Amino acid sequence: MVQVYKNLSQIVTLTKAFEKDGRKLVPEDLSIINNATVVFDKNEILWVGPSDNLPSEYSEIEAKDLSGHVLTPELVDSHTHVIFGGNRSEEYTMRLNGADYVAIANAGGGILNTMNGTNSLSSDELFEQARQRIERIHSYGIGTIEIKSGYGLNFDKEYECSHVINRLKIHFEDRVQIINTYMAAHAVPKQYPSSKEYMSEVVLPLLKKLGEESIIDAVDIFHEQGYFDSEDTQQLFDLASIYNIPVKSHADEFNDNKGAILAAKNNALSTDHLLCTGADGIEALAKSSTVATLLPGTGFFLGKPQAKARQFLDAGAKVAIASDYNPGSCHCDNLLLVASIAAPHYKLNIAELWAAITLNSAHALNLKDQGAIKIGLKPRFTCFKVSKIDEVTYSWGRNLAISLEGL
Ligand code: NIG
Ligand code: FE
Repeated sequence: MVQVYKNLSQIVTLTKAFEKDGRKLVPEDLSIINNATVVFDKNEILWVGPSDNLPSEYSEIEAKDLSGHVLTPELVDSHTHVIFGGNRSEEYTMRLNGADYVAIANAGGGILNTMNGTNSLSSDELFEQARQRIERIHSYGIGTIEIKSGYGLNFDKEYECSHVINRLKIHFEDRVQIINTYMAAHAVPKQYPSSKEYMSEVVLPLLKKLGEESIIDAVDIFHEQGYFDSEDTQQLFDLASIYNIPVKSHADEFNDNKGAILAAKNNALSTDHLLCTGADGIEALAKSSTVATLLPGTGFFLGKPQAKARQFLDAGAKVAIASDYNPGSCHCDNLLLVASIAAPHYKLNIAELWAAITLNSAHALNLKDQGAIKIGLKPRFTCFKVSKIDEVTYSWGRNLAISLEGL
């Protein structure tokens, strides 16, 4: 069925940003059309332009009048850990009172704390808690969400978590696009002498099983001192490539362990965090198709310094921003809030900001057919009840998104 949204105050098409592959953007790359109309069917955008120029073939179709609204490419949160049990609010307080994230983790808190919380829930309970979280995230206008497994941390529970994500993907398919990322390599449980044994007993065999079931969209690993090293990361990437599953990594968060370089060398979809990435890593990303995903909420939440966003952008890297929503290092599920607060600190221009949470975050998930409002791309939009785009990030923390369902 062909649909028409007419009289939008603005459509932020990001067409120019799309043509520039999301790199080296200037404010004009938002490619705004004022008083605009868009025509689309279930699969693709058929026409977009000023309302006055609507081709006659579409003028008889009953249109939704969206005057007083702005349409953007769909908001994409490309990095979340939504499947978890329990809560780590006390760790936030401990940090305020002087403890450090790594020290808390070493004392039995951190990811291993959530492992216990996750293992104490049934598959149905994990599904239901995640379902509610996704509904809330979707209410902010986010239409695509990447979800990582990684709090089960044993063969059976990780298998179950990947299947819970698959159930959520099917449950939400008409409303929210879910990307299922396998991240059993999130932390090494205490019973394993090192990451090597955990890799060979759990991470690699389970990837084989899930690879054969074809339910995984990407794999990820916490490539960090005290977690998984470069050899583990390369092993995981090599196995994923046998199943044609794209790869991602959490890298250079606490140290410059050359994780960005390894990710770029393996054509990873993205490498994320990057607080300590050196000039060589930034250069490697700029020359690659790997998206540099920055997670400012984590720095805010942990009281850590932020990634050097400007250096990645100026070098020509493709930069995305994601929430990193998880129970420990960033318990904030609102991507637009996090990105709006971060933008002045990162010194982003307005096109860099919007590309980071739409076009480039879609590319970080291998979704090359969305991220701009352009003929032939998927009709994946977010709509805000404002008359100009500036108002959305200006009013940070206020939810101005409206649901397009049932319009
Ligand atoms: O992306 N860095 C690794 N994983 C999460 C932290 C998860 C946790 O603390 O529970 C992150 O920040
Ligand atoms: Fe993460």
